[in-house]
Amino acid sequence: MSAEDAAMFIQAGDTVGMSGFTGSGYPKAVPTALAKRISAEHAAGRPMRVKVWTGASTGPELDGALAEADGIELRLPYNSDPIARERINRGEMDYLDMHLSQVAPMAWQGFLGQLDVAVVEVTAIRADGSVVPSSSVGNNKTWLDRAKSVILEVNRWQNPALEGMHDIYYGTALPPNRVPIPLLRPDDRIGDPYLRCDPDKVVAVVETDAPDRNLPFAPPDASAKAIAEHLLEFLAHEVTKGRLPSSLLPIQSGVGNIANAVLTGLVDGPFHDLTAYTEVIQDGMLDLMDAGRLRMASATAFSLSPDAAKRINDEMVRYRSKMILRPQEISNHPELIRRLGCLAMNGLIEADIYGNVNSTCVMGSRIQNGIGGSGDFARNAFISIFMTPSTAKGGAISAIVPQVSHVDHIMQDVAVLVTEQGLADLRGLPPKQRAALVIERCAHPDYRDGLRDYYERALRGAYGRHAPSLPGEALSWHQRFMEHGTMRTG
Ligand code: COA
Repeated sequence: MSAEDAAMFIQAGDTVGMSGFTGSGYPKAVPTALAKRISAEHAAGRPMRVKVWTGASTGPELDGALAEADGIELRLPYNSDPIARERINRGEMDYLDMHLSQVAPMAWQGFLGQLDVAVVEVTAIRADGSVVPSSSVGNNKTWLDRAKSVILEVNRWQNPALEGMHDIYYGTALPPNRVPIPLLRPDDRIGDPYLRCDPDKVVAVVETDAPDRNLPFAPPDASAKAIAEHLLEFLAHEVTKGRLPSSLLPIQSGVGNIANAVLTGLVDGPFHDLTAYTEVIQDGMLDLMDAGRLRMASATAFSLSPDAAKRINDEMVRYRSKMILRPQEISNHPELIRRLGCLAMNGLIEADIYGNVNSTCVMGSRIQNGIGGSGDFARNAFISIFMTPSTAKGGAISAIVPQVSHVDHIMQDVAVLVTEQGLADLRGLPPKQRAALVIERCAHPDYRDGLRDYYERALRGAYGRHAPSLPGEALSWHQRFMEHGTMRTG
């Protein structure tokens, strides 16, 4: 049926579980039709809003359109849409920022409430009612299982050769019935290639022919290249020391341009036979595969620029044998990340001199995107690496501060910190040694003296013995930025 008719199955106040993870595999027609209907309802004096659950971020046809129409009451678990971000930061929309691995179990536990409708993009519907997933899996298994009714968008743009790439594990359970997940290597297949879907719940099938929409990656700038170089040198050193095999350990690479630059850097690095156990397959991973460096990648979604999406679509059969897409509760599962010993590499907003990391909230308050999978990976990784340029906003903000204004990753979960200035290996170091290293290796020269001054005065203060701190001054850099538009003094 038409997307407009299908959208009529969604009522004001409903909770809607949509597919989508980064700009991949999200429904493209029904959310847009729903947004139009919501605008019309608002105009007629009948306010209508829904709660939206997804895998992670989606595309403008979903988050952008619904946020523009003021149609979202609550959003979880991750958002990077600018219009939705503005609404959240203006207090017009509730946002539940969650560890991505925990969404499906929480939905099953019932903590998130009832799921009314699932709207899921698929590549095809099979005769037995099961469906071929599209370019992301995310939480689709859970939405199809839990929702009272289901709307399927069959997107002709998705390559039919996606069939067979997915691995949908149906063995998860709630305590006390949990059993070990039988995945021992990134390339293990432990489930079915299809999503099960009860045909009796399907109220609408909508056909589309629309591309996934991801932004192109910026070519790596000097700062991203320097970060990649420091990191590759560190990994090579770990191999020399015998702490990592020459094929490294399964790589997890976070979102953003720097993460992509590191992957690109690996193309010319000394490592072979690499694997990835990660959340998204980015452009850099295709380059690594084409260069014969990356043997296989396991993830929950593609996060590809338009050029890379075309590249993979043109040669799906070749790439398919080297890729597995899984539900995000498996791609991000703490048990599996710990077992495989992933090398986690994620971006950050700011880090403090002890290595506590803020990944989400600018000035401790305004949401940027969300924690995503960074917590799933950082806590359970073999080596948890965080990377960032040493300054933001043209140098007005130091990414290394006396104290983070919000904590996503405590220092115990942060093993290595890298900026274009250098790399601090914080493993095995107590707080004072961490601080010295972070200031000297990672901070921008313009802010280094200020950090030294803060730290040395904290060291001499009454609370200067274990993790020196001047509580009244610890957030003064943020205060200065909020008042004067810069963290610089003078
Ligand atoms: N203070 C204020 N703003 C800051 C900042 C700081 N200390 N550091 C970065 N920013 C701003 C940038 O200026 C930029 O803003 P703009 O879009 O208005 O230009 C924005 O944050 C993104 O920063 P950018 O330098 O482009 O970095 P990025 O693309 O590498 O993203 C994060 C960095 C932290 C936002 C991103 O990595 C993220 O969302 N992480 C959390 C989720 C995650 O790690 N997922 C992967 C797990 S698998």
